[in-house]
Parts: sequence; C-alpha cells; structure tokens
Amino acid sequence: MHLRKRVLVTGGAGFLCSYLCERLIREGCEVICCDNFYTGSKRNLTNMLSSPYFELIRHDITFPLYLEVDEIYNLACPASPIHYQNDPVQTTKVNVHGSINMLGLAKRVKARILQASTSEVYGDPTVHPQTEDYWGNVNCIGRRSCYDEGKRCAETLFFDYHRQHQLNIRVVRIFNTYGPRMHPRDGRVVSNFIVQALTDCDITVFGDGSQTRSFCFVDDMVEGIFRMMNNSEGFIGPVNLGNPREFTILELAEQVIRFTGSRSKIVFKPLPEDDPTQRRPNIELAIQKLGWRPTIELEDGLGRTIDYFKKAIANFL
Ligand SMILES: NC(=O)c1ccc[n+]([C@@H]2O[C@H](COP(=O)([O-])OP(=O)(O)OC[C@H]3O[C@@H](n4cnc5c(N)ncnc54)[C@H](O)[C@@H]3O)[C@@H](O)[C@H]2O)c1
Repeated sequence: MHLRKRVLVTGGAGFLCSYLCERLIREGCEVICCDNFYTGSKRNLTNMLSSPYFELIRHDITFPLYLEVDEIYNLACPASPIHYQNDPVQTTKVNVHGSINMLGLAKRVKARILQASTSEVYGDPTVHPQTEDYWGNVNCIGRRSCYDEGKRCAETLFFDYHRQHQLNIRVVRIFNTYGPRMHPRDGRVVSNFIVQALTDCDITVFGDGSQTRSFCFVDDMVEGIFRMMNNSEGFIGPVNLGNPREFTILELAEQVIRFTGSRSKIVFKPLPEDDPTQRRPNIELAIQKLGWRPTIELEDGLGRTIDYFKKAIANFL
C-alpha cells in the first residue's frame, strides 16, 4: 500500500529536474526519476541515490513506459541549443512521441501531468514582454525549430488530451533558468560566461551584446513548477515562469567578469540563426494564480553558481 504520493519525473537527472526531484522528496513524495542520460548525469542525483524514496530508471521516453504513479512531471528534453541541435530529429521525437507516451500513461493511471514548456514557444517575439496569450513568432524550418516547434506541438497534445480525455494537465512556460549543476559545456550563456571567466578565456558575446535575456535562479523556478502542479483551483495554464528583470548580454558578461575577478576579455562573434533579440516574461498570471514571483536576485544567484563552477570545473575540463 502506498501512503506517499508516487511521482514520476522524466528527465530527472538533468539540471533543473534534479532540483525538482530533491524538492519532491522533501515534500514527502516517492520519486521515480526516468532519464536516458542524454544530457543528464548521475552526479546531479548523488544527494538522492541512497534515499529509500528515490528510484532511478534508465529509459528513453520516446518508448512507452508502464508504471503506477499519481503525478508526472514531464521535463525530459535537452534544453540547450548545442544539445538539442545535435540530434534535431530526436529532439522533435522526445517532445512529440515522448509527450504522447507520457500522456498515454497519465490517461491510463489517471495521473495529473505537468509539461515543462518554454519561452521558445514565443520564438523571436514581436510582443514585449511576452504574455501567455501571445501566439509567438516561430520559424518552422530553422535550426531551433526542432525544439521550438516540438515544444509547441507538446502543448497542443497536452491541451487535446485535456479536451478529448479530460486529463488533468498543467503547462508551464519556463524562461532562462540558471544555477549550480548547469552543464559547463552546454553553450548556455550563464554557464558559458562563468566557465570562460574562471579559465581566463575570452568571453564570447554573440552580436553586439545588446540582445536581452532575463535569468531566473533554479530554486525560484522549482518553487513555481511545484506550485503550478499543486494549485487546487484547477488552473492548467499555460503560465509563464521566469524572472522579469531584464539584462543585456553585455551587462551579464561584465557582471560575471566583476564577480569572478577574471582577466578575460569580451570578444564579439556573429549572432546565431533566429537568436531572439528580446526575452522577458510577463508573470502577472503566475503572481495572480500561484502567488509566485522570483525572490533571488541575479547578484546572489550568480555568486552561488560561480561558487559551484569553481569546485565542479575540474571534473569537466
Ligand atoms: N533550463 C532552462 O533555462 C529551461 C528553459 C526553458 C525550458 N526548459 C525545459 O525544462 C526541462 C529541463 O531543462 P534542464 O535545463 O534541466 O535541461 P537538461 O538538458 O539539463 O535536462 C534534460 C534531461 O532530460 C533527459 N532526456 C533527454 N531526452 C530524454 C529522453 N528521450 N528520455 C529520457 N530522458 C531524456 C536528459 O538526459 C536530461 O537529464 C526541459 O524540458 C527544458 O526544455 C528549461
């Protein structure tokens, strides 16, 4: 007999997902983490591997999975452009076939299921900041499309399973999230800059650095995802989760140099294809429906992330 809630986290060995697993165990859940270790690592799970409430399954969610669970957090999908563009067909598959498999599982066992969607569904937005009712501006044949369109199709599937099969769904649109356990070679801007600064290499800024991003610390993001899954009002989303404080990429590079005391120089490289020029969430809906807003300032979060990379970098170089 199960007294604890049994929760499946797909992609649980990844950066953001591993914090979610920890949080769920702290909340008294039994966590089943399912991962094919494409970008995730057992290293991210070391705090949990000996817990009696944690189970790890090596599995690719593009294949069906049969389990008995009460809730599913569907986070499996490489999140950084370097990784998701490495095998774009698999990226679309994990979002489409993977979502169908997880939705099918949720339907069979009547589990509540949350989808980790992304700000990338807005593409290169023409509306700023982005609200959930904006339909986006996505190139469907570009190099980022496997991810952007994959996540858009996943949202469609979630809403169709809700309408057609009355599935209890939740959809969160995650904006740039950073923190300890990011992969040092995933090409994401925060980890890139920190690793370059700590190794005194040139800091590569794409374009002129005037493009903006907003960065949410991982603890804040996990809180938002958890609140969304557990909101009892039946609010299914989609809801933006992110930090609305906006920085230019050049400002971020300068901050990282200052915080690390690095001798790195900033160099400029051509902007990648379809790189969004502006990205900032409107989080009014999350504030209103979930009482959620980020609490950790970039200065604090960057400091914690830099401390992590100082220790972790030797394992990766
Ligand atoms: N981190 C961010 O800034 C951000 C922003 C928007 C959306 N998201 C979404 O949040 C989720 C988690 O992101 P993250 O930053 O932790 O990424 P991550 O790459 O660190 O983690 C993804 C995990 O999914 C696993 N995975 C990939 N394909 C799989 C498959 N077919 N079967 C099983 N496991 C598979 C990977 O091995 C990895 O452990 C992703 O869905 C991502 O798209 C993240």
